[in-house]
Amino acid sequence: MPLEPILLNDGNKIPAIAYGTGSKMKYHDITQYIEQAIEVGFSHIDTAAFYQTEKYVGKAIKESGLARSELFITTKYPRDVPIQKSVKESLANLGLQYLDLYLIHQPLFIPDIVKTWKDFEKVQQDGLAKSIGISNVVDVQQLEHLIKHSEVKPAVNQIELHPYNYYKMKPIMDVCAKHKIVVEAYSSLSPITTYPGGPVDVPLKAAAQRIGATPTQVVFLWVKAKGAVIVTTSTTKAHMEEYLAVSDLPDLTKEEVADIDAAGAKGPPSDIAARLAINTKEKALGVVIVMIFLVYGWGRICY
Ligand SMILES: NC(=O)c1ccc[n+]([C@@H]2O[C@H](COP(=O)([O-])OP(=O)(O)OC[C@H]3O[C@@H](n4cnc5c(N)ncnc54)[C@H](OP(=O)(O)O)[C@@H]3O)[C@@H](O)[C@H]2O)c1
Repeated sequence: MPLEPILLNDGNKIPAIAYGTGSKMKYHDITQYIEQAIEVGFSHIDTAAFYQTEKYVGKAIKESGLARSELFITTKYPRDVPIQKSVKESLANLGLQYLDLYLIHQPLFIPDIVKTWKDFEKVQQDGLAKSIGISNVVDVQQLEHLIKHSEVKPAVNQIELHPYNYYKMKPIMDVCAKHKIVVEAYSSLSPITTYPGGPVDVPLKAAAQRIGATPTQVVFLWVKAKGAVIVTTSTTKAHMEEYLAVSDLPDLTKEEVADIDAAGAKGPPSDIAARLAINTKEKALGVVIVMIFLVYGWGRICY
């Protein structure tokens, strides 16, 4: 089933997969990779003032010769700078008249999210961003507080989401679903990039074999099954093509999604190893206590 654009709660549509220009690409001239991504078929580009990659996205957009309407551009508000000033700087860097999506990058750096959001509503009213949203809001109470005190609901919440943190993220995802806030998933390839060799590998491989896909593509199908937008990145054409080819793959079955969820709930290999180490320490302590008891008890019996 193709990766169809997803409807936002403000009536706009968002392409279901984005090419990111953050993480290891931050602060680098990555124009060639963005150009490659657009050439391969990505229409949704994710950047942020903090990444310092907006000007390279702008360069690649210009080089592409594509009409503005053919691209979906997201950037993010950093911190400290007045919002009207920051959004205008981002637009200048990108060479654009408007953003498709403007996000509060990190609520931890924002003293009053409700106040900041009022300025975001103004950015949208002024036509500088078609949609507005949040990122890294993982505290249910914070999101509910924001919604309660705002005119406009966030259209998206961009969060870290992969099988190993799914259960941790589920409460915030449930609140997002209640308010039709689309979740965007970054770092979803963590089972492959950060935690290889963990329990999730088994169901990923099984599903990959059934549908003739790669484990990477199965992770993205899992993100799709959760109704989230995939926010990924790559420096290689082969990986970019592999990502977009997810569009030609069938959906995972409910059982496959459940198997990945269950394996993810066991935690990444590092957590399992840590738990085993704790168990081993507890067992060793138990043995020492029993030995002390035996020696002491034996001594008293002998005495
Ligand atoms: N809002 C936020 O706070 C926030 C935080 C983090 C990220 N993001 C956004 O999300 C984007 C993506 O983040 P991410 O990099 O964490 O996403 P990801 O999709 O989890 O990982 C992408 C990385 O996976 C690597 N990869 C792909 N296939 C692989 C394989 N088979 N084996 C080993 N490595 C493989 C790619 O490397 P190659 O270059 O070799 O293909 C690439 O570096 C960022 O660029 C940014 O736009 C947002």
